[in-house]
Amino acid sequence: MPPLQHVTDSTQLIRWGVIGPGRAGARFAEGMAAVADAQLDAVWGRNREKTAAFASKFGVGQVAESLTELGSSKVDAVYVATHPDSHADLCIEMLAAGKHVMGEKPAALNERELARVLAVARRCDRLFMEAMKPPFFPLYKKLRAYLKTDPIGPVGFVRAGHLDATRPPEYPLFYPELAGGSIMGIGPYEAFLALDWLGALKRVQTMGRVGAVGVDMLALIQTEHEHGMAQLHTGLDLLSKGDALLSGPRGYVVLHANWWNPQRATIYHLDGRVVELDAPFIAGGFNYETEHFCQLIRGGLRESPVVSHELSLGMARMLEAARLELGVQFPGE
Ligand SMILES: NC(=O)c1ccc[n+]([C@@H]2O[C@H](COP(=O)([O-])OP(=O)(O)OC[C@H]3O[C@@H](n4cnc5c(N)ncnc54)[C@H](OP(=O)(O)O)[C@@H]3O)[C@@H](O)[C@H]2O)c1
Repeated sequence: MPPLQHVTDSTQLIRWGVIGPGRAGARFAEGMAAVADAQLDAVWGRNREKTAAFASKFGVGQVAESLTELGSSKVDAVYVATHPDSHADLCIEMLAAGKHVMGEKPAALNERELARVLAVARRCDRLFMEAMKPPFFPLYKKLRAYLKTDPIGPVGFVRAGHLDATRPPEYPLFYPELAGGSIMGIGPYEAFLALDWLGALKRVQTMGRVGAVGVDMLALIQTEHEHGMAQLHTGLDLLSKGDALLSGPRGYVVLHANWWNPQRATIYHLDGRVVELDAPFIAGGFNYETEHFCQLIRGGLRESPVVSHELSLGMARMLEAARLELGVQFPGE
C-alpha cells in the first residue's frame, strides 16, 4: 500500500455520521471502537424508532431529524449504508453538504451513477471512497508483503465465488427495486479481487439464471484483464464455500472462506513448500477501511490510493456488464 502523503495532524479527531442504521451500519458502528481518534457522532435513518434504537445501542449523541440536519451537523465524514438504489443520491447530497463520504459497496447502481458521484466529489473538493473491506484486512496486507519476498510470479488467474442460500425471502438482495441480485451482493468483492490482481478490465462474459423476483439468482462471470483472466460466481439459491484462488506460474494462493473477510491463506509453491498465513481481524473488520479513510482526511487527500476512483469505476463497469448480459435492469436505469 503506498504511504499517505501530506499528513498534517495524524491524531486529528474525525467525527462520523451514518446514514442507514441497518446491518452494515451496525457493523460500522461496532468497528468504530477500534479506530483511533475517530468517533460516531450522528445517525440519520428514515425510521425514527430504529434510528433511536441504533443511537442508544452504539452511544451515538445526535439523531438527525433530516438529511439536511445531518449535512449541517459538525461531522467530518458520512458513511452511507443504505441499499444500492439510493447510494448515489445520498452520497451526492452529503458531498454537496461538504462532508467526506465513504459509500457502501456497490458504490452506485451502475457506472453512470458512480461517475455522477465522483464528479460531485471533485466539484466539492471532498474525499469519496467506496467501502471495500478486503484490501485493508491484516491478512490481505500480510499476503501482499509475503509475496514480495517469496513470490509465485505474476498472478494470471483469479477464481472467487460464493453461493449463499441462507438468506430469507425478505432480504434486500431479492428486490430489484433495491438494486438487489447476487451480482450486486457478493459481486463487488469479486470484481475487486479480479481487478486488484489482474488489472484493468477488457472483457466480460456471463452465464446465469434470473429468478421469478426479477434479480439474478446465479451468475457465472468470466473476465479478461490486462494481466490475466478470472472466473467468478455468485448466487442466492445454492450453497458453496466462499474461498478464492490466486494463481501464478510458480505457485498459487488459496484465500480461505470467507475470502472477503480474509484471515487465513495457504500458499502452495512450485517447489513443494506449503506456507500458511494467519492474521485474524478484530472488531468486525469495518475498522480497517474506516481507519484508512480517516488517515486520508487527515492527509488532505481526495481519493484513496488503494480503492481508487478508477478501481471503483472498473468494479461498476464489470458488475453492470454481467447484469445486463443476464437481462437484469433496475428501475430508473
Ligand atoms: N461491507 C460489508 O461487509 C457489508 C455487509 C452487509 C451489507 N453491506 C452493504 O451495505 C448495504 C446495506 O445492506 P444491509 O444488509 O445493511 O441492509 P439493511 O440491514 O436492510 O440496512 C439498510 C438500511 O438503510 C436504510 N435504507 C434503505 N433504503 C433507504 C433509502 N432509500 N433512504 C433512506 N434509508 C434507506 C434502511 O432503512 P429501513 O430500516 O427503514 O428499511 C436500513 O436502515 C448494501 O449496499 C450491502 O451491500 C456491506
